[in-house]
Amino acid sequence: MKKHQDLIFKNLNIPLSSIPHHNDVEGIDRFFAEGFPVHLAIHKISAIDKNEEQYTKPHAHEDEDEINILIPEEGSELVYEIQLGDELHVVEGAKSVWMPAGLKHASNVISGSGYFIAIRMKKDTVKQEELADLSEAASNTVSP
Ligand SMILES: [Fe+2]
Repeated sequence: MKKHQDLIFKNLNIPLSSIPHHNDVEGIDRFFAEGFPVHLAIHKISAIDKNEEQYTKPHAHEDEDEINILIPEEGSELVYEIQLGDELHVVEGAKSVWMPAGLKHASNVISGSGYFIAIRMKKDTVKQEELADLSEAASNTVSP
């Protein structure tokens, strides 16, 4: 075995329903890196026309920040409804969403094909003052 072989993890096909607040939904395959140092879930979204099922219920992680990453398949759109606190956002295209620990959230696909990646890590890996910088940078970003 090579010295760093144990840094490479298998992404196992583990259903959404295996985690709290989630149900399975047609068109989503979930891959999870068991044993990885942070929670890493990769979802392959296959040609969803219009999903109306709220398969992810609003929830919060008190001790973890969460990142959601949307990557549409080339030639396709990927549209999610993402709840942040009490707000609902329609998020389209290649986007990343920061969900600080304690913030109620839910992510549900509406339509499209591509990849949706969810990462959770111990809170405070990004400091509050850095978050303020992030927020300022985001407000300076022109979104279509
Ligand atoms: Fe979550």
